[in-house]
Amino acid sequence: MRMIPQELIRRKRNGERLDAAEIADFIRGLSDGSISEGQVAAFAMAVWFSGMDRDETVALTRAMRDSGDILSWSGVGKPIADKHSTGGVGDNVSLMLAPIMAACGLAVPMISGRGLGHTGGTLDKLESIPGYRVAPSAALFRKAVESAGCAIVGPTANLAPADRRLYAIRDVTATVDSVPLITASILSKKLAAGLQSLVLDVKVGNGAFMTGLDEAGRLARALVDVANQAGVTTTALITDMNEPLADAVGNALEIGNCLAFLRGEKAGTRLEAVVMSFAAEMLMTSGIAASPTEGTDLAVRALSSGSALEHFARMVHLLGGPVDFVERPDLYLSRAPVILPVEAPQDGFLRSCDTREIGMELIALGGGRLRPDTVIDHRVGFSDLQPLGKEIGRGEVFAVVHAASEDQALRARERMLAIYDFGEAPVKPPVVLSRISS
Ligand code: URA
Repeated sequence: MRMIPQELIRRKRNGERLDAAEIADFIRGLSDGSISEGQVAAFAMAVWFSGMDRDETVALTRAMRDSGDILSWSGVGKPIADKHSTGGVGDNVSLMLAPIMAACGLAVPMISGRGLGHTGGTLDKLESIPGYRVAPSAALFRKAVESAGCAIVGPTANLAPADRRLYAIRDVTATVDSVPLITASILSKKLAAGLQSLVLDVKVGNGAFMTGLDEAGRLARALVDVANQAGVTTTALITDMNEPLADAVGNALEIGNCLAFLRGEKAGTRLEAVVMSFAAEMLMTSGIAASPTEGTDLAVRALSSGSALEHFARMVHLLGGPVDFVERPDLYLSRAPVILPVEAPQDGFLRSCDTREIGMELIALGGGRLRPDTVIDHRVGFSDLQPLGKEIGRGEVFAVVHAASEDQALRARERMLAIYDFGEAPVKPPVVLSRISS
């Protein structure tokens, strides 16, 4: 028998447990439109206040996964693996990790998203490449995964459609930041992608949605437990997001940074530490490597041989981008008309920065969205960002602004001077803070 939505909302509001059948029924009603927007919003708020236990979260995740298609990769003949980040600033890890993993023998059908709040989106970055199709047909998606070993695309129309409706309502009802709702939202899409293993990058810090370690730990634990319970071998690394991860923030700029990385030009950076940690983790969870050292060695070889760059080039071309994109990126990545250095106002160390504000500045420059229908400017952002802890002299450049106009560049430069703090050398935490496994 069909449940009465308001009864279910009342029970959740009062802190009661819902069973799997009730949750599945609610998600069915959410998907077929028989449950109103107001009822969905009230349900989300009830979950926000009362929470859900592990079994309820698994049931919610499964019901949302089953609201649409579940992809099948039978016949591909390789382990099917993916990585997902909870979102950060200058976080372009997926762009490099997918082709490195493809070069190591995994198949990576990566369903990515657009920018959310102050955080950047992998799809927005890839759309800096002329012709790149983030919404290919199912047949082209499969062909790219088979031939390039990886394809980074957006959710297909019927992939976890319940999440699309629930997410849009959460977004405007202050119910995004709930551990069970985030867990079910992220994992429903990942489980529907037909993965065998998954590695999660749970970001923590002033540029992440989770600003405290306890909160990030709770989210990581929920994600790992629910994904494993739902049948996908999953681990998580909690990583620091108290400064941009790459030395560039912005769509085309982060693609340029990705190419530099794949050419071996970002050795010794925090970005390299994160990419290599995830590479080792993915190779272990998918059974290709027996230890982190073996995983890292394989990834290093994939990079230094040029194989990872070749896989990236193949993916870009198969998905509609230029055949010579990696050889001649300057021909294709458009540049902002105004480029302005930001100079240190005093001698000292780069002590801290407000990472969230850097993400917000990218939006102010036109490189992100305030509304879902905003057309973004892929050219703008920041490059040459120096890492926290670096000692710099007065007048030395610690960032470069890329803007559409002189006024915007001057404004962004002022903001960057306020966003960065100079002084004593900071004590920096390691970039990979902890590992969560089942
Ligand atoms: N990303 C998602 O896909 N869903 C959330 O709820 C939060 C981040």
